[in-house]
Amino acid sequence: MNDTQLPDYPRLQTRLTRQFGLQTPLVLAPMALASGGALAAACALAGTLGLVGGGYGDLAWTQAQYALALQATHADNARARLGCGFIAWKLDEDASALDWVLDHPADEKPRAIMLSFGDPRPYAARIAAAGAALICQVQRLDQVPQTLEAGAQIVVAQGGEAGGHGMNSLNSRATISFVPELADWLAVHSPKTLLLAAGGIADGRTLAAALVLGADGALVGSRLWATQESLAAQGAKDLAVRTRGDGTVRSPVFDILRRKNWPEPYDFRAIRNRLHRQWEERIDALRTEPEAARADYDAGVKAGDFSRAHATVGEAVGLIHDIAPATDVIARMSADASHILEKTGRLAG
Ligand SMILES: Cc1cc2nc3c(=O)[nH]c(=O)nc-3n(C[C@H](O)[C@H](O)[C@H](O)COP(=O)(O)O)c2cc1C
Repeated sequence: MNDTQLPDYPRLQTRLTRQFGLQTPLVLAPMALASGGALAAACALAGTLGLVGGGYGDLAWTQAQYALALQATHADNARARLGCGFIAWKLDEDASALDWVLDHPADEKPRAIMLSFGDPRPYAARIAAAGAALICQVQRLDQVPQTLEAGAQIVVAQGGEAGGHGMNSLNSRATISFVPELADWLAVHSPKTLLLAAGGIADGRTLAAALVLGADGALVGSRLWATQESLAAQGAKDLAVRTRGDGTVRSPVFDILRRKNWPEPYDFRAIRNRLHRQWEERIDALRTEPEAARADYDAGVKAGDFSRAHATVGEAVGLIHDIAPATDVIARMSADASHILEKTGRLAG
């Protein structure tokens, strides 16, 4: 892609944009079943790093969506801004989707692979051999040394505000203090490693804040989930537009309902709907006898009824007011962040 085709919004440059050839320091979170090929390609074409949501490592899904992303970026060099993400503890069961993505000819290989929720070290050598950058998402400072041992070029500090999986409230950190603490830690122990903030970054203010806190950029999930290209259900997106930031909750309820055996200490943030409220005070009972609740949940999914099915967004849902094309969201976030940073600079002195 020649840069004349990039959307017309101000460049915002950091170490991340310079190393990865981006126009703005944003990375699409590899959201399982939402960050499909169309969304990843739209983000790459808009000058960000677009990560396909390989999630649980479903080979057929990953093949179809990564191929779609390659196809949609075929005409230009936006392919150099495509990558894929996986849930590490699921790769421990089956890594065929990771191997399939890595096994592409040079011009179709992922620029980066992101691993979250588990030990990245068993996969580091094959990712490095394919020439892809390793991105590791962490929720606590004590997880960082393991990611550096794996050779991570980018560490993502995910706060408990984030949509989807993260650490339960006993163990999670808040983005606003986790990011600067990790920035300081990396400056001492691994100054070349880049840092992304994740959790609650959804507009120009929060992007500018992430940069001010010492991040090289932001990993955005919820805000890009609520775009036209995302594979999330339209009913879930519409509900998100109507939901305020108070309306999400972190718990294991939806994982139990979905029969997902997530290891401790991870749980899941989504909109706190009727079915969640019904079970949130009785989680042990739900674990012991989940059948009736699962039947209710399954019927909700089938009917597209989000008072029973889950809608996966984080606290940033309160900053989401429309379902726009991804490129518009990216351009708005970047232009607003540039403006704020410029204005803030003028406050000094
Ligand atoms: C719908 C959805 C699905 C997600 N799926 C994954 C996933 O498969 N792998 C992963 O590493 N993170 C996943 N995440 C978490 C993101 O990587 C990221 O940490 C989070 O979205 C950042 O917070 P935000 O939602 O406030 O932007 C998901 C998030 C959402 C909203």
